[in-house]
Amino acid sequence: MKISIIGSGAMGCLFGYYLVKAKAEVTLIDTWQEHIEAIDKNGLTIMDGEHIDHVHIKAFSEAYQQTEKMDLIIIFVKAYDTRNALEKSLHLIGEDTRIMTLQNGVGNIEVISEFVSKEKIIGGTTAHGAMLKEKGVVVHAGRGKTRIGRIEGENGKTEEAIRTLFNESKIDTDIEKNIDGLIWDKLLVNAGINGLTAILNIANGKLLEREETEILMKNLVMEAISVAEKAKIQISYPDPLHHVKAVAKATGNNRSSMLQDLNRGKKTEIEYINGAIARKGKELGIPTPYNDFLQQLVKAKEKLS
Ligand code: PAF
Repeated sequence: MKISIIGSGAMGCLFGYYLVKAKAEVTLIDTWQEHIEAIDKNGLTIMDGEHIDHVHIKAFSEAYQQTEKMDLIIIFVKAYDTRNALEKSLHLIGEDTRIMTLQNGVGNIEVISEFVSKEKIIGGTTAHGAMLKEKGVVVHAGRGKTRIGRIEGENGKTEEAIRTLFNESKIDTDIEKNIDGLIWDKLLVNAGINGLTAILNIANGKLLEREETEILMKNLVMEAISVAEKAKIQISYPDPLHHVKAVAKATGNNRSSMLQDLNRGKKTEIEYINGAIARKGKELGIPTPYNDFLQQLVKAKEKLS
């Protein structure tokens, strides 16, 4: 299976590493030239606790440097870059190519479906946590399930083949039907963790060490649950708040992707996470003051950093 990972930040690299270890034909594409050059020159380094490993993986800074059609394209760019990334990669998409999004936030599937028919899109989420330590070096900071499935039509042989490959690559993966539910499960996690850790400049686990931060997290998540309920989205966890806390604990030493973005002076995905919840809440008449305020706070911080 020929695979291209578009967006080779921490998560893209982590998936690339596991797939290449299982001898899959995989390439990384990212517009951050120095990072791609470092991977090209020194290989990709993954640090997992005491364990440090290097692999060689083909990496490109421009999608056009690759010419073959892919069987699978995994999009890992930031939500605000999805359209741009696809526009540059249309030549990699053939009749049978599947496009998979495992990105944070909501709205990515809608953008991808402007370019390819919905039967070709695989949505999903991953509970792995990773941080970019430096160019070409990624820290694997937390493990968890990856859940994937077609957004339209029945999952079939192709999705099964992807699941088998992922599992052989030690990316523990299940196939699911309720993709909207999966995306909201993850949205709740990101809504409760990312913005708060970014503003407070703390690792995920620290949110659970103070009553004040636990209450803020709870209010953000409870608002999102009310919006999901009104939107008739089926969240898969019986106690979603408990799940959000469990992820914060499991990825305790991780600095969330939003905190990493702010620290690097990059735009964050706040509009696709707490901002998306606030917008949906407004549309459905559900008040979301905590999500609204956090969105504004993160946007202000983006401008200051
Ligand atoms: O965006 C992130 O950082 C991750 O999705 C998560 C699960 C919050 C872990 O840091």
